[in-house]
Amino acid sequence: MRILFLGDVVGRAGRVAVKEFLPGLREEYCPDVVLANGENIAGGLGMTCETLDELFSCGVDLVTGGNHVWRHREIFSRLETDRRVVRPANYPEGSPGRGYVVHTLKDGRRIAVFNALGTMFMDALACPFRAAFSWLDACAGEDEGAVVRLVDFHAESTGEKKAFSWALDGRVSAVLGTHTHVQTADAQILPRGTAYMSDLGMCGVEQSSLGMDADVAVARFLTRMPHAFKPARGPVSLNGAYLDIDDVTGLAREIRAVRSHCPAAVRSPAGNE
Ligand SMILES: [Fe+2]
Ligand SMILES: [Fe+2]
Repeated sequence: MRILFLGDVVGRAGRVAVKEFLPGLREEYCPDVVLANGENIAGGLGMTCETLDELFSCGVDLVTGGNHVWRHREIFSRLETDRRVVRPANYPEGSPGRGYVVHTLKDGRRIAVFNALGTMFMDALACPFRAAFSWLDACAGEDEGAVVRLVDFHAESTGEKKAFSWALDGRVSAVLGTHTHVQTADAQILPRGTAYMSDLGMCGVEQSSLGMDADVAVARFLTRMPHAFKPARGPVSLNGAYLDIDDVTGLAREIRAVRSHCPAAVRSPAGNE
């Protein structure tokens, strides 16, 4: 199965980047399925129904979440009903939505997607390792037929991400890091066949502070006061990974970092962020 997984899509600029670059990437990689982390699609923080629909209309099939997923309450009911969206599994019992989904491709092949949040330098949630083990134990029956299993591990610490990938090596097709918005140059296949990358990076304004206005970011550090984030403006880029997974074993044949930025500098137009 050929897969494109895009890192955190940040605001309107991120959606513009997906719209602009995904058609070319489709031609180049012929993906069977396209995923994106959508925790920042609405104005850089959270998801709304409208921005989620925009992402789907760009050709994204499945959307994963992160710590910002709860920002807009309107998404809560959508998380319950839309099986194309997954939020971190290790939030407390009773949180809206689901921590994993199983998606069936047009040709009948199935892909399971699991999302978890790291706990180092982040909220103190339930252990993501044990959440993943529980999912895999449940997988045996419920996800029968979903040989391809992807994990979006949304975490700050590379140490936690690496350890997480070793804990799941050979049991999932790939562990892909999100959240830092900075793409890492460590795409690799672990000894038991799990593809790994510490962070996919982001889709959005490259010359920014993680997709947000750099002046605001600087002011927050200089004053230690709460300045409201606002999305950055400027040329956009897309970051993510391409994966090829063996449909029989569910193990990775290839992982490659993907990065698109236009020499002619595609800019995000002013308007709804
Ligand atoms: Fe993010
Ligand atoms: Fe995040």
